[in-house]
Amino acid sequence: MSVHLTVNNRELAAPAGTTIFESAEVAGVQVPTSCRKNGKCKECVVEIAEGADLLTPPTPAEKHLTPPFRLSCQSVVAADAGQIRCHTMRRGQMRIEHHAVSMPGTGRRLDLDPAVTRDGDRILIDGVEVARSTATMHGLAIDLGTTTVVVRLLNLETGDLVATSSFENPQRFGGSDVMSRIHYDTEHPGKLLRRTLAGYLTHVIEAFPIDPRTVYEVVVVGNSTMRDLFFRQNVYSIGQTPYRSITEIELAEGSRTSTGLEETGRRSLLPIHPKARVYGAPIISGHVGADAAACMLAVDLEHEDRLVAVMDIGTNTELIVGNRHRILAASCPAGPAFEGGAISCGMPALDGAIEDVRIDADGGITLGVIGGGAPQGICGSGLIDALSELRRTERMNGMGRFEDGADRVVLDENHGVHLLESDINELAQAKGANVAGLRTVMSHYGAAFDEIDVFYLAGGFGRHIKVDAAKRIGLIPDLPDDRIVRIGNAAIEGATAALLSRRRRRELENVVRRVEHCRLETHPDFFDFFVFGCQFTPVGASPEVAG
Ligand code: FES
Repeated sequence: MSVHLTVNNRELAAPAGTTIFESAEVAGVQVPTSCRKNGKCKECVVEIAEGADLLTPPTPAEKHLTPPFRLSCQSVVAADAGQIRCHTMRRGQMRIEHHAVSMPGTGRRLDLDPAVTRDGDRILIDGVEVARSTATMHGLAIDLGTTTVVVRLLNLETGDLVATSSFENPQRFGGSDVMSRIHYDTEHPGKLLRRTLAGYLTHVIEAFPIDPRTVYEVVVVGNSTMRDLFFRQNVYSIGQTPYRSITEIELAEGSRTSTGLEETGRRSLLPIHPKARVYGAPIISGHVGADAAACMLAVDLEHEDRLVAVMDIGTNTELIVGNRHRILAASCPAGPAFEGGAISCGMPALDGAIEDVRIDADGGITLGVIGGGAPQGICGSGLIDALSELRRTERMNGMGRFEDGADRVVLDENHGVHLLESDINELAQAKGANVAGLRTVMSHYGAAFDEIDVFYLAGGFGRHIKVDAAKRIGLIPDLPDDRIVRIGNAAIEGATAALLSRRRRRELENVVRRVEHCRLETHPDFFDFFVFGCQFTPVGASPEVAG
């Protein structure tokens, strides 16, 4: 007798007495671990979607977790029949690359002037010797998203990209948004969020095709909370009005000259050279973090004359409007819907995620899946496509209701991937927050949408977002196509530029001092903007509501 266990969509029979970890291994699913499966490393987290009551109760090693999360090495099947469904934190593929990196939207190759240099076999950081080696020197650019983490490995001697990896931020067990992570970190001693993430990053770095000890510099970007958690800062103050990182408070008090952070490789807990420098890019203010600063660097805002808007969609959407004369930025807690969070079959844009949806004239649905395998869920670009296609074929109205009265649209029957009306509601709210945020920043700036010369659409929520689809559902303003530029994950692009060039890093440090932080919640029309933005209708160039 055994239960029917599904781990990451792989099915097998699990007899009573076996752990989820053991069964996952049998099914060929790799579960992160750095201990002897004894509850110590806390890395083997799984999310139990169904059948939690068929497992033994949580052990003391799991006291840091709340449902639906368990440690797979501690979860033992305790029944002879039934169904358990669970999944590990998701991983993207590690991609081996070998090419130069260019500025997003321009194709111009990035400057190569890294802080790490060599003189014969002497390796220097800012001119100070840290090691002796003739092996090629490497660096890492890391974007710590609330939902997804991206790591790039670069050759510091040629500027070439060597490999890229991405994975679901394992800190999800501490909540899906920054406020719950702050609360979790404040309530649980031991820096568990930091340790778990470091474990996952270690596995990624060790899988790269180089000796990790040839990594001499790391540039880390992320929103204020993600960055500060990584650098073991106390994040409590970011969760309380006036929402300030401890580094912002210290800067105001005069005890530091930048909100940027630094630590050694040894202290970082990463398997890189112990004397490597780990640099946390400066944050701007409040929740407007180092990822927003990196976006500005990626689009070269310091040298821009045109009026530029950047919408970097994520669990926290970064909104930037301006040019070299004036820059406004805001952070909008849109929630994780467009990264697949809070959506019944949602997942980040990693292998197994539906990223393309097409509804044919006869109602048939054609799907495109990242990695080409069976669909496990749907990511942001797939969700935008699905909403747009449902509108185009008039199966859904502008208020997000299905016209046939059903409660769901089945995307893939065999693999149980569907979209519920309640999912649409989550997406409507996330979209409403993004659009309202952008409208508010534009209003503060004193410009209408049709005055935007270049609209950069950024985000790690999918590679194949279609501009037409985003416009049809009103996620972005209805501007002419030639003004809209998709730039993918702008934060990792900015982190890469800051890793490869000292000049660009100085620009990064300088630009954050000039940014005006726009607090969305203080705008009198924000709520009206939000209500309007929740509708799945195109957003005209001029405001539909006063302001
Ligand atoms: S494998 Fe280390 S805690 Fe489960």
